Formats: sequence, C-alpha cells, structure tokens
Amino acid sequence: MDQDYSKLTRQAIEARQASYAPYSNFKVGAALLAKDGTIFTGCNVENASYGLCICAERAAICKAVSEGQREFEAIAVSAVPLATPCGACRQFIVEFGKDITVISVNAENPDETRTWKSSELIPENFEL
Ligand code: THU
Repeated sequence: MDQDYSKLTRQAIEARQASYAPYSNFKVGAALLAKDGTIFTGCNVENASYGLCICAERAAICKAVSEGQREFEAIAVSAVPLATPCGACRQFIVEFGKDITVISVNAENPDETRTWKSSELIPENFEL
C-alpha cells in the first residue's frame, strides 16, 4: 500500500463493535474516507427476514451520501477472517468511482490486509 490507511483500518475495526449480526454471527465493520477527509463508519445490520440484511460497506456509503458526500478516496472493511466485499457492495462502491481504494483487514490481526482498486473488484460493472 503506498498510502498509510492504518487510521482507516483502525476505524473499520472499531465500527465492527456495533455490528448487529445475531443470525450469522459474522461481524463486519467499515470505514469510508471521503475526499475532504471525513470518515463515515458502518457495520452490518441483519434482520430476521434474512434478505433484508445490510452490509457494513453499504451502511457506511448510505450514511455518507445521505449527508451530502459523493467523493470517496478509500473504504476499509474489517472482519474475522479477512473478508472481501460481496458483489452487491462492489457494485455499490464502484458507483462512486473506479479508483476508490478498498482495503480488507483482519479485525484480530490489523497487519493482515489486502488492497485493491474498486474497478479491479468489479470489472465490467453495471452502468446505466
Ligand atoms: N457482510 C458484510 O457486511 N459485507 C460484505 O461485504 C459481505 C457480507 C455481512 C452480511 C451479513 O450480515 C454477514 O456479513 C454474513 O453474510
């Protein structure tokens, strides 16, 4: 990683504490860095009607966009073990740019990370 995203990965790990995952017990946190430096966090929010579950990445993006932010530099995602964003989240991230840095971090071992550009995670993304 050229850039130091350790503050962002730390925040993603912290955000995971709020995860509401009573069905899967798979806790996920996210921290989204806007281009103006603001960080928006999110966690997964599950539901008894499983299909309604919201991923951490999309929770963070919805928080940011609903507060007027649309320009993003990076998003960190924390889980144990390290997890790559699901397909829906990849499409959601790339909506806001092909050059967004995506970092996955192991919440129990912050030194274990993987990094991509949003376009690498979803080549040929859907566009209208
Ligand atoms: N999950 C996320 O929060 N982000 C992803 O990219 C993949 C999956 C959540 C959804 C669900 O609450 C749990 O992880 C298990 O699938």
